[in-house]
Amino acid sequence: MRHLLSTKDLTRDEAIALLDLSDEMAQVNERGLRKLPTLRGKTVVNLFFEDSTRTRVSFEIAAKRLSADLINFSAKGSSVSKGESLKDTAQTLAAGGVDAFVIRHGASGAPQALAERGWTDVPVINAGDGTHEHPTQGLLDAMTMRERLHGFGSTRGKALDGVKVAIVGDIAHSRVARSNLYLLKTLGAEVHLVAPPTLMPRGLGLQHYDLDETLASVKPNVVMMLRIQLERMNSAFFPSANEYSNIWGLTEERFARLSDKTVIMHPGPMNRGLEIASSVADSPQSAIVRQVANGISVRMAVLFNLISQERQIHE
Ligand code: CP
Repeated sequence: MRHLLSTKDLTRDEAIALLDLSDEMAQVNERGLRKLPTLRGKTVVNLFFEDSTRTRVSFEIAAKRLSADLINFSAKGSSVSKGESLKDTAQTLAAGGVDAFVIRHGASGAPQALAERGWTDVPVINAGDGTHEHPTQGLLDAMTMRERLHGFGSTRGKALDGVKVAIVGDIAHSRVARSNLYLLKTLGAEVHLVAPPTLMPRGLGLQHYDLDETLASVKPNVVMMLRIQLERMNSAFFPSANEYSNIWGLTEERFARLSDKTVIMHPGPMNRGLEIASSVADSPQSAIVRQVANGISVRMAVLFNLISQERQIHE
């Protein structure tokens, strides 16, 4: 693996190996000394052209836990406001010596452009591009599902064959939905997309338009609620927030009809009370906080895999 641009690029064996490595990183994160020397002397640049809390901070923690130096670049307050291009920004930052770029951009395809147009010769990690993909989110979600469904400590070498996942909400604007769909299918899961017709893109996966009917008939092992991405909407996609919540939200009533084994997930940030009730997000069935913790382990595994010459971690 030279770059991580899309979960479509991962074979089943590569995906399982990355998840196994993420589990090893999780063990490092759970001990007293949460640090490995493995990327000492390497430099990672966080290149963020769009807002982020989880992804930016977890890449920062991941790089530091592997002993790499980390440069945090945010487009706000930079020469991007004077019109500097992505190519010139990346090459300016690379002038001091860089070993990997982590890039989030509002334009779908920006990480591919950086990786494939000869603007840099170092690994590029897509940290979310427009409505296209968010591959490390897909990996951390798959890691979380493996843990919850196979049990902690029983995940090594395992895929998600036969697991039923319902991804619900704003599929049209969701890079998380796309990265999850491609990766989960590679891992053998059955993925059901549930959305209002206005928020369902054509030609993607198994599509459903009635949430209650889908939850009752599919009986998913995992329900992943997506954020309504108001910032990417330039017209009304549903009549009102109240109506959306009643028809498409994971309300307390809807949650009560699910099996008590159903795992509840959300990539964050959440609109509490809109796509998910607060009490559901905070329930014992919710893996939302664990998803965030696993984000650090997955990003450590990805940085290690792309930058280190080693194939296994050494203390
Ligand atoms: N899930 C996710 O990408 O969150 P952030 O936008 O906070 O990074």
